[in-house]
Amino acid sequence: MPALLEADPDRIASAARRVMARCDELARVTAMPGGIERVYLSPEHARVNRLAAEWMRELGMRTRQDAAGNQIGRLDRIVGDRLDPDAPALVIGSHLDTVPDAGRFDGIAGVLIGLEIARLLRVPIGDGRFGVPLPFAIEVIAFSDEEGTRFGKALLGSSAVAGLWADDWWALTDAAGTSLRQAFLEFGLDPARIGEAARRPDELVGYLEAHIEQGPELHRRGEALAVVSSIASARRFQLVVEGEARHAGGTPYDMRRDALLGASEAALAVERICREEHHIIGTVGQLEAFPGAVNIVPGEARFSLDLRGEFDGERDRVWDALTRDLDAIMGRRGLRWHAREVHNAAAVMCAPLLQDVVREGIVGAGSSGGDEPPVIFSRAGHDGMSIGAIADVGMLFLRNPDGISHHPDEAVSASDVALGIRALADSVLHLAADRRS
Ligand code: GLV
Ligand code: MN
Ligand code: MN
Repeated sequence: MPALLEADPDRIASAARRVMARCDELARVTAMPGGIERVYLSPEHARVNRLAAEWMRELGMRTRQDAAGNQIGRLDRIVGDRLDPDAPALVIGSHLDTVPDAGRFDGIAGVLIGLEIARLLRVPIGDGRFGVPLPFAIEVIAFSDEEGTRFGKALLGSSAVAGLWADDWWALTDAAGTSLRQAFLEFGLDPARIGEAARRPDELVGYLEAHIEQGPELHRRGEALAVVSSIASARRFQLVVEGEARHAGGTPYDMRRDALLGASEAALAVERICREEHHIIGTVGQLEAFPGAVNIVPGEARFSLDLRGEFDGERDRVWDALTRDLDAIMGRRGLRWHAREVHNAAAVMCAPLLQDVVREGIVGAGSSGGDEPPVIFSRAGHDGMSIGAIADVGMLFLRNPDGISHHPDEAVSASDVALGIRALADSVLHLAADRRS
């Protein structure tokens, strides 16, 4: 399938340079001295939304911040010589929040690529106004919370857009004890209006997202871009192990009920069981001992568990096997344990039509040797996991050198970003052609 975009290489290269420069600019909006951390409903969140809104307005987009703090820009569909403010929209998006000590591209690059697609496809219609000559409008959404860094619950921004907000989330608290409800009020959002962020399926044509891969697959294959086939399912838990705090010197081993050792053995069990089930990946990323003194046997340990897999059933079988192991480990050590599930997202298949248009876009961009660019499933979570409840989802991955992400060394090259912009813009045109036919 030939490319539809009349691509001017200089224009695409300058779009990629702008994406790279803006990733640098957004990286300076951080709460972490010497690093990047930008969490939901923080002053940094407000600042990046203002910047994104400014960039959207420069493109002639109509802008708004929705009831969940997502920043939205819209280019209306051109019908004859006017704009249709109500036409269903193709959403191109990703997120602007980060993990602690983050890289500068995870999520951010996808939002900025979305803005460059809008720039490439917009057309002036007079009076300084712009629209798109497509059978749909284009919306770029900068989601406000994908990582869940602040409240432990991921995908808050896109869940609000998908109408999946649950009332019990209001009581979630951050590390300082601030509830999600209070944080909304402090940010200037009204919790009572959260329902207004929800979009109806008939308002949307689909959802496309470009994202760095966050793994080494493309780097290893020597390919710049891939079609994403599905987004892995994920479950997250907070686990507590209870033992008995006692004197570190005076308590012999046969009297110890050391909660930290139980938690440590549990973390090793996670690795062992997940290694046996090759398609499941488990991570213990947080571990704390209480009361947390050098001379006290830990009486309590708390740790997190993140479990991911291509298929929900395999992931759930691993959790069941793990609970049996934890019963055995804790029983042997005289400990008790319990777990609270804080996140459960089913795997989302990318829609066949959107996989096709992304494939056509990649082929048209000439990033891959032949007509069959790589197709890989995403082991990382993305906003499409919730948007999948109301719209078809398609994703394009960009090579992430060495596969490092959720780390300051996270990278993507300007030339791959240029290919990604070119491919995604062409994907949009292929989708438009499909809808016209
Ligand atoms: C988000 O980046 C996640 O997959 O944890
Ligand atoms: Mn991330
Ligand atoms: Mn991300």
